[in-house]
Amino acid sequence: MKRRVAILISGRGSNMSALIEAARERDFPAEIVVVISNRSGALGLDKARASGVATLTIESKPFGKDRAGFEAVLQSALTQHKIDLVCLAGFMRLLSAEFVQRWYGKMLNIHPSLLPSFPGLDPQGQALRAGVKISGATVHFVIPETDAGPILMQGAVAVRDDDTPETLAARILKIEHRIYPTALRLVASDKVRLEGDLCKATDGADSDAVLISPAVT
Ligand code: GRF
Repeated sequence: MKRRVAILISGRGSNMSALIEAARERDFPAEIVVVISNRSGALGLDKARASGVATLTIESKPFGKDRAGFEAVLQSALTQHKIDLVCLAGFMRLLSAEFVQRWYGKMLNIHPSLLPSFPGLDPQGQALRAGVKISGATVHFVIPETDAGPILMQGAVAVRDDDTPETLAARILKIEHRIYPTALRLVASDKVRLEGDLCKATDGADSDAVLISPAVT
């Protein structure tokens, strides 16, 4: 049985598209059942519809600081669609600890840095200011703390001297589109397990599958 996945977006949805594309493969262990946006104007909504995936908008703005109110509507949509796994893909609304705990081990996020380095805003600018020679992207299980949680998979890219936040972001985005589908495949096929705060390969699974290392070109 394929795992039923909801993707939560707020914007352009390029990671969403990569997940939808991967899930078209017949042997992919998950199906994208619905894309939910907290912004009606999110570009990703059109892309999802064009791909034949159901969409739903739950505007978060009218809820203001009423997180519980927003999340009650969100949770009821997830229940209604019988969702097993949630993928955050550029979802810009903070979720309450209660909601996150409820989905612990079943909710994934992607962040454009090699966590735990550079959480939060402008991770590519942070990487350039720190002068690191390698950066990349991380898929992790979501915990109440922002951009933290058991790391499922990472992909690295070389940082160039002439990089700007934009050029680095573009290179990292390409690797995001590779690791997010792979990470979802690992979770949906039970190839990973949680051991305390760590994510490990299950017996017999290939533990090297969780790393893409950089080609310096
Ligand atoms: C990506 O860089 C992702 O890592 C971050 O937000 C951005 C979303 O981009 N969390 P997209 O909407 O998937 O194109």
